[in-house]
Amino acid sequence: MWKAKAVGRVVAQALISAASSLAALLTLLPIRVRKRWFGRLRSLGRRVDNLLNSTVLFGIDPLADLSALEAGLVPQTPTVDERAENRIVERILAAYWKANSDQKGAPLVYQPGGEWADTIKRTRGEYLAALEREDSLELSRLLRGFFRNCGAYGLLTTGLYPEISAANTRKKRAFIYAILQDYSSWKDLTGNTNPQALAVPAIGNPWGYMIENQLVMPGACRHNYFAHQACTLLLDIPGAPVVAEIGGGFGGFAYFLLSRMDKHRYIDFDLPEILLLEQYYLMSAFPQKRFLLYGEHQVESFGSALESYDVILMPNFELPKLPDASVDFFINTGSLSEMDYATVEEYIDHITRTCRLYFFHDNSDRAVPKGRYHIEVPASRFPIAEKAFRRVYKAKSPWVGMGEDRCREHLYRRLSAVGPARSMPRRKTESSG
Ligand SMILES: C[S@@+](CC[C@H](N)C(=O)[O-])C[C@H]1O[C@@H](n2cnc3c(N)ncnc32)[C@H](O)[C@@H]1O
Repeated sequence: MWKAKAVGRVVAQALISAASSLAALLTLLPIRVRKRWFGRLRSLGRRVDNLLNSTVLFGIDPLADLSALEAGLVPQTPTVDERAENRIVERILAAYWKANSDQKGAPLVYQPGGEWADTIKRTRGEYLAALEREDSLELSRLLRGFFRNCGAYGLLTTGLYPEISAANTRKKRAFIYAILQDYSSWKDLTGNTNPQALAVPAIGNPWGYMIENQLVMPGACRHNYFAHQACTLLLDIPGAPVVAEIGGGFGGFAYFLLSRMDKHRYIDFDLPEILLLEQYYLMSAFPQKRFLLYGEHQVESFGSALESYDVILMPNFELPKLPDASVDFFINTGSLSEMDYATVEEYIDHITRTCRLYFFHDNSDRAVPKGRYHIEVPASRFPIAEKAFRRVYKAKSPWVGMGEDRCREHLYRRLSAVGPARSMPRRKTESSG
């Protein structure tokens, strides 16, 4: 007995000194190598975790079923009104080319940077080629299937179609686990238990997972919840509340917002190469709404345009034209952290100048590498002026695909009358990055 204890103590001591020597050795390595090693260890941990979670889920949840994923992968091709689609694509091409040319003269903070400059060049070759040739037929073909081709890159947080459709059973189960976790959070947070509320139109050939005969797209629970928050907060606002977004992706949040609230005005600012997806998606989904695209109507400020149009979809460098105190609900999700710090500063200044009621954002709060050249800007470093906004809450973002526990949801309420943002003292956490 005594012998066994002594052996145990010796082994424990040996392990501790081995671990200390390893830690001492690690400190000799460059920080980037250390980060890579720890990153790999952490991702191994996550994979084991996912495997365990999905195994348990398949044992207990009747909704977990590989055949529901196979059903969700079946093509969803709508009958397209080709003339209407041609008109949409021609408008998109004209707006893109004007934005592409004017972007060159825009200040540096509005140039694509952070994670996205490289991502766009590296992943959207087919789109860039079709745009370059002004080939509207090829662009239409790509847009009809954008959820399944490279158009969706960076915009679907739980996985891409080519990867999931060809995945092995273990990966497919992990995907199903992510979707069902999101579905459970969505029910919990919205109080809605009917998956039909998550329905999306068959635009862009959507895919996903079948829940009670309803196709649920990856990200749909998250986007629908954001729309639920916006609608709830804006319920008592008289007239037509104005919702503004930066980096709206393909328009997932906007789709649920506009399908629930007919009177709301929506305006988004995004990089031209991504913006065109949202233009296609929303213009196809809401043919009865009035849309304003870049270059279609010369405006000094969007003040009067917000009265004449339901939806305004603009390249990011048009943000300074958004009038002071014109927005009731400003939203940014999965996006500011992916930009350069100088751009985050510029955008927060404009949000401060233009937002008269709520600022809602859900972003990474960790400085983790994202893409090849970017380290995420943690949400705690966003320079949000305490004098301008009171933080109502900060909460862990529950969406599984949004990235390993690193995202936080924030709601701010406007405090003071809107003034020039640059004169506002910023939060104490501010850094010049
Ligand atoms: C990961 S996607 C998130 C899309 C959507 N908000 C969501 O939560 O699903 C990031 C979005 O930010 C946009 N974005 C990246 N850099 C930007 C910039 N400098 N200005 C405006 N939008 C930008 C991207 O084009 C993309 O639409």
